[in-house]
Amino acid sequence: MAVEESTYILGISAYFHDSAAALVKDGKVIVAIQEERLTRKKQDSRLPVKAAKFCLEQAGISINEVQKIAYYEKPFQKFERLLETQISFYPQAFFPFRKTVKSWLREKLWVPHNIRKELGFKGEFFYAGHHESHAAAACYASPFNEAAFLTLDGVGEWACASFGTFENNEVKQIAQQNYPHSVGMLYSAFTQYCGFRVNSGEYKLMGLAPYGTPQYVDLIKDNFVTISDDGSIELNLKYFKFHRGMRMINSKFEAVMGKPALKPEKHISTFYKDVAASIQEVLEEIVLKTAQHIKDRTGKEYLCYGGGVALNCKANQRLMESGIFEEIFIYSASGDAGGAVGTALLCANQDASREIEIVPSYLGKSFGSDEIETALETHKVTYSELDDDSVLEQTAELLNSGSVVAWFQGRDEMGPRALGNRSILANPSDVEMRDRINEMIKFREQFRPFAPVVMEDQAQDFFKNVRNANEMLFTFDAVNAEKIAACVHQDGSARVQTVNAHQNKRLYDLLSKFQEKSGVPVLINTSFNRRGEPMVHSPEDALRTFFGSGLDILVMGNFMVRKEENPDVKIKDVRLELD
Ligand SMILES: [Fe+2]
Repeated sequence: MAVEESTYILGISAYFHDSAAALVKDGKVIVAIQEERLTRKKQDSRLPVKAAKFCLEQAGISINEVQKIAYYEKPFQKFERLLETQISFYPQAFFPFRKTVKSWLREKLWVPHNIRKELGFKGEFFYAGHHESHAAAACYASPFNEAAFLTLDGVGEWACASFGTFENNEVKQIAQQNYPHSVGMLYSAFTQYCGFRVNSGEYKLMGLAPYGTPQYVDLIKDNFVTISDDGSIELNLKYFKFHRGMRMINSKFEAVMGKPALKPEKHISTFYKDVAASIQEVLEEIVLKTAQHIKDRTGKEYLCYGGGVALNCKANQRLMESGIFEEIFIYSASGDAGGAVGTALLCANQDASREIEIVPSYLGKSFGSDEIETALETHKVTYSELDDDSVLEQTAELLNSGSVVAWFQGRDEMGPRALGNRSILANPSDVEMRDRINEMIKFREQFRPFAPVVMEDQAQDFFKNVRNANEMLFTFDAVNAEKIAACVHQDGSARVQTVNAHQNKRLYDLLSKFQEKSGVPVLINTSFNRRGEPMVHSPEDALRTFFGSGLDILVMGNFMVRKEENPDVKIKDVRLELD
């Protein structure tokens, strides 16, 4: 009997921010990684050549075995939108126009050519729309057979938002909202106004919001954005510059707000905190109205939600609590990196029936003991190798006595959150722990909270109405806040990751051990990287970050490294750019 050959689809997202590659084998995502993890350049947007090769290598196949390469958007349509909008604002848009034309004609337009050249691919290409890729990632990665979907982001080709249905294995769009009327752009405009970087500082704006009061909601709605009952929006373009310049906002915007945009890294006054709270409130109103409209139009019980805006955990909490949908699923890489997963799954499901399987968040590489040991030996690091029980026992003991532990286990996470495989863990009971971690490694803004990871079966003892939080994309209100003070935010909420033994056994077991010692099944979980650096990928990266920071314990697989036993280890560091 002939053995049937497997079908491989390689998904790629590139040229905006967070490039990534994903490999789907017979309809299942078997490996995916962001280019930044391999190039060590944060938010690397180049063609993900290293990520694509990594996927092939992990699967043990050559490029010739890939049937199709699926790209996450339609480059010509995107170029058309850029040209059309910039030409319509000529001559104000002359400089961005020149820059756009140059970079697109030189590189971005020739996606298939570039991919063929870099990867030696000779097969066919498949192109999904940008929002179709977001929708596909949300739908095909979900546990639902039938649902509505919503995508919200800055912009793809023309669409900034879309919704539709997922049934009979098909993602069907009902409507879309076009550029420049974009909720993502609106939020990013305020991100820039409050002194943060567009496309990466949106988290910071969200983190800042609970420190303010939303007293500028009417000001924003009276001047900048009209929100219809169905959640669609219209931006008042005379205040924005993103469609015809390199900045998001103009001086008229600043005049309406009554203060100039805050310069990066400057002291954040109450005014900017109030602005953050206000735009967060406006965003939540848009999301809720849109969701209600989708519910009315589709009648579906469940929602698959994707796009960069779906990473806003506070808005997600409001959406969950509204009860508009019974369940909401958001894929861990719901931003553009996850577009690689979405387009590959869409391509693979064109003529296949789907077996429901939630796409896991851990899709990178699991380094073997030999690889970890080689890295340790190369840098002459003193370490101990423990058995499985002792690793958990000793790590839990160290955590309980106040050590901050870098925890490197299994495969890398796909998406922006560390979910316990490339994490820094710490005891959540002491509120001082936040400052300690910041001093040791993160050097990030004081107002930004750290997040908790909790054993799923005990989560309700600490968080109200908690559910569906394996991917750390929802906030919940803490109920036993004093026991986990270091990871509860200003407004009493926390961005929770729930974990079960099926999802991540090693982390679950560690939490269980920690609970035996401390009485609390919760740990602080923050990503294993320094500010301005992508999450660590390899043992080599882990050692560089560990020895380049104030962290005192590193656990990689079953190997434990204590800083105090290694006073002389020096590893050549990389230059970090603050984000
Ligand atoms: Fe997007």
